[in-house]
Amino acid sequence: MRSNSYIFAFAAAVCAVCGIVVAGSAVSLKDRQDANQRLDKQKKVLTVAGLMEVGEEITAQEVQKRFSENVEVQVVTLKSGEIAKDIDTATFDQQKAAKDTATSAQAPTNRAKVQRLPHNANVYLVKKDGQVKNYVFPVEGKGLWSTLYGYLALEKDLNTIAGLTFYQHGETPGLGGEVDNPKWKALWKGRKAFKDGKANIRVIKGQAGPVDSAPYEVDGLSGATLTCNGVTALLQFWLGEHGFGPYLTKVKG
Ligand SMILES: Cc1cc2nc3c(=O)[nH]c(=O)nc-3n(C[C@H](O)[C@H](O)[C@H](O)COP(=O)(O)O)c2cc1C
Repeated sequence: MRSNSYIFAFAAAVCAVCGIVVAGSAVSLKDRQDANQRLDKQKKVLTVAGLMEVGEEITAQEVQKRFSENVEVQVVTLKSGEIAKDIDTATFDQQKAAKDTATSAQAPTNRAKVQRLPHNANVYLVKKDGQVKNYVFPVEGKGLWSTLYGYLALEKDLNTIAGLTFYQHGETPGLGGEVDNPKWKALWKGRKAFKDGKANIRVIKGQAGPVDSAPYEVDGLSGATLTCNGVTALLQFWLGEHGFGPYLTKVKG
């Protein structure tokens, strides 16, 4: 018969060893996880700009090659719309910046339920033959259950939508999760973001119809009106005065 103290000591030793293994793995894998996250974001930027097919299997090196050859990464100051100076575009992490009180501010009350606004944000310039073809903007906002993080690509007129994709959310598969459905994503191409200078693109309840007859509307996802309302709110927020509005005005000017 083992004594109680032996059993407790043994259990504590097992817990300590397991804890060290788990913590050690988390720390040692952190760099690899960060690199994978970066790679995933690069893939999404390439996809939303039409430089990579949905589901296309390419190596990490090919992703990086396509990205570095075609995409210029900018960091812009949201309030002024100017290119931010003294910020390393290679290491700038917008999500981290939005969480840090030194590099972000409380957002004004908004329908996208964005809590904190980073002072600076990424813009991706997708180029072809040296000319800007698309501008890709990171967007985020609350759906029903989660914050949706994604990218909106505009054509060089800064009005026509080239694509919308989300790379992270926790909406219900089959309902709000249908924001990832390629058929739904295809509906965005060619719609217009702005009407009379104001962000007007929206997801409606029901069917919107073709681009020509409904330039500012996209079909709703059935059973997922709340997620769709979130998508409308987050797009209008990031295209508006507290988001990339000042940058858009500067570039159009
Ligand atoms: C388990 C469960 C998960 C749901 N997930 C979502 C969701 O991810 N997004 C969403 O908008 N609505 C979701 N709903 C439905 C909403 O409560 C709401 O009924 C719906 O958004 C209304 O959309 P409709 O007007 O198109 O029916 C969920 C409902 C249940 C019971």
